[in-house]
Amino acid sequence: MNAHLHCIQCGRTYPTDEVRYTCDCGGLLEVNRDKPNVDRKTFDERRASRKAIDQSGVWRFREAVLDVDDDVITHPEGNTRLYERNGIFFKHEGENPTGSFKDRGMTVAVTQAVHLGATAIACASTGNTSASLAAYAAQAGLKAIVFVPSGKISGGKLAQTLAYGATVLQIRGDFDAAMRLVREACDRLGIYLVNSINPFRIEGQKTIVWELLQDLEWQAPDWIVVPAGNLGNTSAFGKALLEAHEYGWIDRVPRLAAIQAHGANPFFRSFSEAFAARHRVEAETVASAIRIGDPVSYDKAVQAIRFTNGVVAEVTDEELMSAKREIDRMGIGCEPASATTLAGVKKLGLTGRVVCVLTGHVLKDADAVMKNVDPGQVIEINPTIEDVATAVKQNAPARP
Ligand code: F0G
Repeated sequence: MNAHLHCIQCGRTYPTDEVRYTCDCGGLLEVNRDKPNVDRKTFDERRASRKAIDQSGVWRFREAVLDVDDDVITHPEGNTRLYERNGIFFKHEGENPTGSFKDRGMTVAVTQAVHLGATAIACASTGNTSASLAAYAAQAGLKAIVFVPSGKISGGKLAQTLAYGATVLQIRGDFDAAMRLVREACDRLGIYLVNSINPFRIEGQKTIVWELLQDLEWQAPDWIVVPAGNLGNTSAFGKALLEAHEYGWIDRVPRLAAIQAHGANPFFRSFSEAFAARHRVEAETVASAIRIGDPVSYDKAVQAIRFTNGVVAEVTDEELMSAKREIDRMGIGCEPASATTLAGVKKLGLTGRVVCVLTGHVLKDADAVMKNVDPGQVIEINPTIEDVATAVKQNAPARP
């Protein structure tokens, strides 16, 4: 298979075994390859296999992800459920091994890191990438260093990252400052960077879209709705759809809807001006995962929205928290950032076949749940049957 790194700005190419994340011109790099010799039937057959590389929802598509033999660092990951509730589909990426979609990109970036001979890997993170990096580094025997905005990531994500054994650098600054710092640190200190600016992360995250298309028996939906922060996923989804169409896996391209929180909306601002200018903001939102003001994959995400005739919307914290409550009450649950999808569906009035991608598990941000418990939902009582009877009577749920 013939693959290379290709600059989306100036078109220059580099070999895939060179350690680099951007072009000499500053442009973002993507992996380009010849049309892979594999068809949809093979993907179905692999779903029944017992081999980890076939069972992984990423490596099942390996011919179109990374040129590897059996030598991959896989948990395995992917194979997340597609739920249908009230006429909307929810692809729950929170069902990945570390509780977020990041595992799909991380298995590929860490496999590539080992292939390149790296001994240490790093990222800047709002919490999910760091947890995923730590888990895959542990599996691969690599040193893990994560840069997080101090005091700005959820306790659960921090604990998870520490549990898997990573070193945590708490940066006195926001995510965007941590991102700038980790890029410089990786360049100077010879550490391999596995943020989504790394084109191999994007290759893995494409499989979210391919797997949901496979779940739908390759009948393209009308809309795929995704939260937008650092814009890695938006970029990956655009590339996945372009390739799926080019390879003949789908005959129609769904439209992308990328949803931002109002307080962290630089991409929405640009979209509103037909992408006339790139914006940077001081980000603030309850959805800490997407508290990002200067997204690194901006240029790729613009291409993704243009190619899919997509849209970008913003939702307020109130709107996304109310959508989260709805998703939680369906018995599915997700973290706040993921709920921007349902909030976006409502705001945009999307109709037809709509797939919302839920990016993180409900337990990723327990604080966000505990701050929004209904009055009377938690009742402290004495250990007596009378107290139980009173409490149950007071709080009998209405039948649906
Ligand atoms: N949803 C969740 C749960 C996330 O953790 C992230 C990003 C996004 C959505 C946005 O995706 O950046 O590809 O546009 N989290 C990163 C992290 C920044 O460090 O965990 P994106």
